[in-house]
Amino acid sequence: MHILITGGAGFIGSKIAQELINRGDEVSLIDNFNDYYDPSLKRDRISNLLGGKKYILYEGDIRDELFLEKIFSTKPIDKIVHLAAMAGVRSSIEKPLLYEEVNVRGTMLLLEMAKKYPVKHFVYASSSSVYGNNTKIPFSETDSVDHPISPYAATKKATELLAHTYEYLYNIPLTGLRYFTVYGPWGRPDMALFTFVKHILENKSIDVYNEGRMSRNFTYIDDIVSGTIRVLDAETGLGIMNIGGDREETLLRFIEVIEKNTGKKAIKNMLPMQPGDVPQTVADISKLRALGWEPTTRIEEGIRSFVKWYRSYYKVEKE
Ligand SMILES: NC(=O)c1ccc[n+]([C@@H]2O[C@H](COP(=O)([O-])OP(=O)(O)OC[C@H]3O[C@@H](n4cnc5c(N)ncnc54)[C@H](O)[C@@H]3O)[C@@H](O)[C@H]2O)c1
Repeated sequence: MHILITGGAGFIGSKIAQELINRGDEVSLIDNFNDYYDPSLKRDRISNLLGGKKYILYEGDIRDELFLEKIFSTKPIDKIVHLAAMAGVRSSIEKPLLYEEVNVRGTMLLLEMAKKYPVKHFVYASSSSVYGNNTKIPFSETDSVDHPISPYAATKKATELLAHTYEYLYNIPLTGLRYFTVYGPWGRPDMALFTFVKHILENKSIDVYNEGRMSRNFTYIDDIVSGTIRVLDAETGLGIMNIGGDREETLLRFIEVIEKNTGKKAIKNMLPMQPGDVPQTVADISKLRALGWEPTTRIEEGIRSFVKWYRSYYKVEKE
């Protein structure tokens, strides 16, 4: 199989690439190494996770139609994992048009490519943020997602609508994965776990929004990788699927586990809720479970792995 991963230098993309290469697939990556966060982390992911392995890296932008055309016309692609996006709720409020360009137009150009150069399966990243302030727990794929509360969430919902349209009109097998708060080694510096660990290790205070009254189905990266590949292996579109951990954890409990693993007490700066953020995300994962997938990593183990990676990557000695 020749699999194209967009956002292949990203947190999720690089780990999926590693797994696919290890099992013998041919992998091509697209990434523009933008500076939403330090691009050297993206380059290091590739050299550390994929070093010494065979893959093709196309450095460029998914908004560039000629760039995509060249990739698709050079070598037939069997399947696509489309992850390239501007991710991040808060920054989407500051730069909504950039989010629209990358997440909506970029996705549409890829769908156009899949229309012209047929693929066996096109799997793309959506997000739990499409559920907005849904109060029905757990969040199920059949719940209404017509009320996103950030530009980011609205672009992800738009992606799902476009995917549905292309599947209907052109018979492209498409599956959208609603990822729920992914964490783990090589994670994104803009996400809570990363900033919490960094600040706690540097004896700085951490901002705790909604005074910690938030909860998430945190999902460990390896579980995300196994779930995404399980879906990718299907030869048919599966619609929309939640992919999340099976335990609801409060933010305060999450911080406690970080404290245990760093051996330091957090200095908590309690703040009100941030615009665009949702207080609770809980996934109904029965649809993906029916394919035989199960999340296996609890936060105790996942946070331990993250802290270990963080200390070694940033060379932070134990005190
Ligand atoms: N990490 C999470 O908790 C989470 C949750 C829900 C959904 N998602 C979605 O999963 C996908 C991957 O997320 P991630 O956490 O790995 O983020 P990430 O930012 O680490 O990865 C995205 C990658 O896409 C690349 N990219 C961005 N714009 C591009 C463009 N115009 N052209 C080419 N490449 C571009 C970036 O350089 C980056 O390497 C995203 O679509 C994100 O919205 C992630």
